[in-house]
Amino acid sequence: MKYTVGFRIWHWLNAIVVLGLLGTVFLRKTFLSYKANAEILLSKLSEIGADITIDEAKTIAKVIRDGMWEWHIILGYALAFLILYRSYLFFTDRSKVESFSSLTPHKKAVKISYYVLYATLLFMAISGFFIYFYQELGFSKESADVIKDIHEAAFNIIMIFVVLHIAGVVFADIKEEHGIISTMINGKTKDNF
Ligand code: HEM
Ligand code: HEM
Repeated sequence: MKYTVGFRIWHWLNAIVVLGLLGTVFLRKTFLSYKANAEILLSKLSEIGADITIDEAKTIAKVIRDGMWEWHIILGYALAFLILYRSYLFFTDRSKVESFSSLTPHKKAVKISYYVLYATLLFMAISGFFIYFYQELGFSKESADVIKDIHEAAFNIIMIFVVLHIAGVVFADIKEEHGIISTMINGKTKDNF
């Protein structure tokens, strides 16, 4: 057995939650962009003779977006729990861990990418909750804006990881590490099937 059940469940729940968070960002920046939708509201309403200002159109477009964006926060809580669960697994899980020095240069790079991802996820959760609760925590809007810019920049690290990771494991499974993906599903390596 390479990965315990607990570890595999963590991996797939984490994958769903992170992809979900990326999905909410995608919708916010495309179909539910308040700027684009305000323009649509403005032009379509004026066609039927109802004139509203651009600020009113933006207010409505933001209300439409808000129901979707709640999922960013709900999934944010899920991510926070998954980070705690992963930390618990770090100390207790019995999945096989190879020593770093025994790995090939390629595997070392892969492992480093996992550490970068873990650090970034931790940062996303802390900064995300900070932006969400800055008033309750007694911070100014300016400080929340600064953190929000870093939160948004760090989003790129997550996106790049997810694209490279999924392409990487699919490629590895096809080339020389046959079954690497099913190892994350059934926990077994090729030698103990
Ligand atoms: C949906 C398609 C995905 C597939 C098929 C997949 C598959 C895999 C496989 C096969 C491994 C083991 C690779 C190895 O031996 O190095 C792995 C590890 C890992 N995956 Fe994924 N993954 C997917 C999505 C994701 C997503 C969206 C995330 C979250 C950002 C993620 C995070 C991780 C992490 C952090 C590890 C390393 C775990 C550790 O050893 O500490 N995966 N994944
Ligand atoms: C993988 C993890 C995450 C990613 C990739 C991510 C990505 C992003 C991005 C790109 C934005 C900027 C959206 C924009 O203004 O266009 C954003 C905003 C935000 N995120 Fe996250 N986020 C993550 C986790 C979290 C978590 C855990 C929370 C905690 C609740 C959170 C709360 C927020 C809040 C409150 C905003 C500001 C929204 C606003 O200005 O109205 N995020 N996130």
